[in-house]
Amino acid sequence: MHLKKYFIANWKMNGLKKDLNQVENVEKFLLKNKTLGNLKCVFCIPYTLLGFASCKLILKKVILGAQNISKKQTDIGAFTGCISPYMIKNFDGKFTIIGHSEIRSEGETDKDINLKIALAAKRGLKVILCVGDTLKDFKNKNSLKIVKKQLNLCLKNNKKYLKNILIAYEPIWSIGTGVIAQNIYLEDFLFKLKKYLKLKFKKNIPLLYGGSVSSKNIHDLKKLDLCDGFLIGGASLKSKNFIDIIKNYYN
Ligand code: PGA
Repeated sequence: MHLKKYFIANWKMNGLKKDLNQVENVEKFLLKNKTLGNLKCVFCIPYTLLGFASCKLILKKVILGAQNISKKQTDIGAFTGCISPYMIKNFDGKFTIIGHSEIRSEGETDKDINLKIALAAKRGLKVILCVGDTLKDFKNKNSLKIVKKQLNLCLKNNKKYLKNILIAYEPIWSIGTGVIAQNIYLEDFLFKLKKYLKLKFKKNIPLLYGGSVSSKNIHDLKKLDLCDGFLIGGASLKSKNFIDIIKNYYN
């Protein structure tokens, strides 16, 4: 278990300029509640908002992040539609999500993800590496095997970047569905995953949970001792929901 707790917002394809008020509200809440010292709050917003956010927000308690990077091995160049870690850093981005199942489902491979991790880490970005099982994997009791395989492929030759990496376990069948595994299952799963990571990589890598996290189920999720934080999609779009998650976690 890490002392730091991560609350990471994944806005996906949501958010206009006006919606940055939601991030502002969260930042104001965190500035007022100084006792939440061990909390790290990251907002992974769309690329289109990063520039505006870096000018508009105080960024004392909230850290900015992106949701992906290009796999081009260069900072700048003639690559239409691509965004490099260098460009994200230019707008105060400190984190990026890599390997989200919604991007994997469009053809991103573990090999692509492996490459992107190295690119992001070399540029000093922290990587939130997403891994997860399908419902079929879960039903066939293959979840751990599948997730270990993803981790092996994504982290192969990337051991030197481990200090830049956080792992988010996101069962695909829990993302945006409101369906969440029982605590007893998650506890056992995170325990096995953590043990495996320690054995294989000799490091205590922060392990997060993602998938339908809400202000209601956080009461149960906070009992997961091995969970170092949460990757939060839908419930991160409105500051009230996000703040309620934090409040209920600490109360
Ligand atoms: P969700 O999304 O909280 O809306 O399920 C989580 C994620 O996809 O990272």
